[in-house]
Amino acid sequence: MKKSIILSAILSLTVSVLQAGGPWFRDKDLTLTGVYYYPEHWNESQWERDLKQIHDLGFEFIHLAEFAWAQLEPREGEYDFAWLDRVVALADKHDLKVIMCTSTATPPVWLSRKYPEILIRQEDGTVLDHGARQHASFASPLYRKLAYRMIEQLARHYGNDKRIIGWQLDNEPAVQFDYNLEAEAGFREFLRRKYNDDIQALNAAWGTAFWSEVYADFGEITLPKTAQMFMNHHQILDYRRFAALQTNDFLNEQCRLIKRYAKNQWVTTNYIPNYEEGHIGGSRELDFQSYTRYMVYGDNEGIGRRGYRVGNPLRIAMANDFFRPIQGTYGVMELQPGQVNWGSINPQPLPGAVRLWLWSVFAGGSDFICTYRYRQPLYGTEQYHYGIVGTDGVTVTPGGREYEQFMKEIKQLRGKCAKREAKPADYTARRTAILFNHENSWSMERQKQNHTWSTLGHVDKYYRTLKGFGAPVDFIDESKELTDYPMVIAPAYQMADEALVARWTTYVKQGGNLVLTCRTGHKDRYGRLPEQPFGALINDLTGNEMEFYDLLLPEEPGTVVMDGQEYDWNTWGEILKPGKESEVWATYTREFYEGKPAVTKRRLGKGTIIYIGVDSKDGKLEKTVLKKLYAEAGIPVRELPYGVTMEYRNGFGIVMNYSDRPYTFDLPDGAEILIGQATIPTADVLVFTIK
Ligand code: GAL
Repeated sequence: MKKSIILSAILSLTVSVLQAGGPWFRDKDLTLTGVYYYPEHWNESQWERDLKQIHDLGFEFIHLAEFAWAQLEPREGEYDFAWLDRVVALADKHDLKVIMCTSTATPPVWLSRKYPEILIRQEDGTVLDHGARQHASFASPLYRKLAYRMIEQLARHYGNDKRIIGWQLDNEPAVQFDYNLEAEAGFREFLRRKYNDDIQALNAAWGTAFWSEVYADFGEITLPKTAQMFMNHHQILDYRRFAALQTNDFLNEQCRLIKRYAKNQWVTTNYIPNYEEGHIGGSRELDFQSYTRYMVYGDNEGIGRRGYRVGNPLRIAMANDFFRPIQGTYGVMELQPGQVNWGSINPQPLPGAVRLWLWSVFAGGSDFICTYRYRQPLYGTEQYHYGIVGTDGVTVTPGGREYEQFMKEIKQLRGKCAKREAKPADYTARRTAILFNHENSWSMERQKQNHTWSTLGHVDKYYRTLKGFGAPVDFIDESKELTDYPMVIAPAYQMADEALVARWTTYVKQGGNLVLTCRTGHKDRYGRLPEQPFGALINDLTGNEMEFYDLLLPEEPGTVVMDGQEYDWNTWGEILKPGKESEVWATYTREFYEGKPAVTKRRLGKGTIIYIGVDSKDGKLEKTVLKKLYAEAGIPVRELPYGVTMEYRNGFGIVMNYSDRPYTFDLPDGAEILIGQATIPTADVLVFTIK
């Protein structure tokens, strides 16, 4: 990074639209750190010893009752909170706050035996059973009623309790692809409402004239069967919308119920960051969204020989950048302290990696981090899962020690911190939004057209480049204001409509820089092709027309040339016909369409629209295009190697090294190192203040 830019890096106190941390967290705490504790697994005589040690290690809260429905309601309608009261009292004695959970992921056996109709039914007819978890159907009104009855008792009991800071709903609530009869009835109801009881409207939306699929009545509709590979994909699109809504409704209703009693406690849940499932962010009753993240589970997504012990360098960063923009703050509910039990191979993390992950969560702007779990279980499915302490209940694990170190470091930084939004101007200048809609992914993954197509892989090429630039990135959906960002990238945004294209056009005309990429605007929101030249929806915006698209064999890639450099591609390439105002940035070579454009730029109003019609093999072309665009826009970028990421918050710069070699960071003038050194070893961090 050039010195002049470093010198001009001054604190910018941009006030974000949403107050960071919301009303629930204080900036000066930086982050709270806590741990899962399952008192129901341990002899009551050990509770106080455990809670005291949790406190002494530096934790500030514990997480309770996540899977304890059987203990909370041992018989239908009979509640027992006395044991939990005693744990909460002990936690308070040892200065630990509490996150309370709704335990709906583990219904007691009496419930499944008395009301078997609440169980999830799989497509092949298998009905899930008691003995594991997450076997109850969110589509079942009866299950919901029983869950709400229990939650209401819990909320009445703890909703006004100052020792409880907040609530976690369910556990890793996912979208259930459930063939329970109630789900089928629910799907029909959803369709009736969506299509205003007009079956012809549904027939048109689903294109049922094709293959005699036409329906005469909503009563004829069933859940789409994935076993039939050619199942109507418009139907699948609606089914996925319905299934996501069902999970979201269940969480929203739980949340509303708790809020009737809990006026000063927040409510969230702990999502797995499965970005394509489509439910994350859909439960807007929650005060903010949280996620769970596991980094070491056997697959080598890291860098170098021991990368599998450190994990994918952008796995936490992307979750941060996805969850934070939804409601302005986020927390991390589960982060592994050591080996897990469920990976393909369950190795020890590299010494330092656990602390590196903690800093990575913090760097993204989170308000709390909770680790799964305190004690390694002696029985049950997760016997081999590490804890903060081992099987004797007292010996602190290496990961536990890394937590201890992190919590000490955070406490040292408290008191030195500025406001959350205190970040250097050059950093905020490169803030970029990635416009993302899971529905595009649902649609393209069903109709890849080239087996090498990967929607998230395509997005990742842009995301990786941006993090290498040291850019703050927000994943946003269409509800967000584009003009908050100088740069917006909409990768492979397949399903669109005129209103969205009009918003994009206004954004550009007003001075925004918009990057659209291949496959954008090809379909309407039902997944149908508009009756116009292929891909024409965005022509007035890009200034181009599309001649055709081509897909190549991976072993016979094509090439694109930009500024004298060649790049391989095979997955998707659009052969463009540039308009008068299009500046051609890259062209195809070595094919019968040699010399035709693959990438164009157009100035429109005060802004710029870039169209990248090709998906390169390794993301290097995408990087070259973005580099040129940011340079032309006068936006300074960094050149961080893959594996090194950096962020700012609270007036601190945080640099994290996931790579397999030391990295020396070029500190801004006047920066004061608080933690680490300018040369950062593998699995280590550097924290500095900005003047
Ligand atoms: C998570 C889950 C936890 C626990 C953990 C084990 O996915 O939410 O309840 O099972 O995995 O690593």
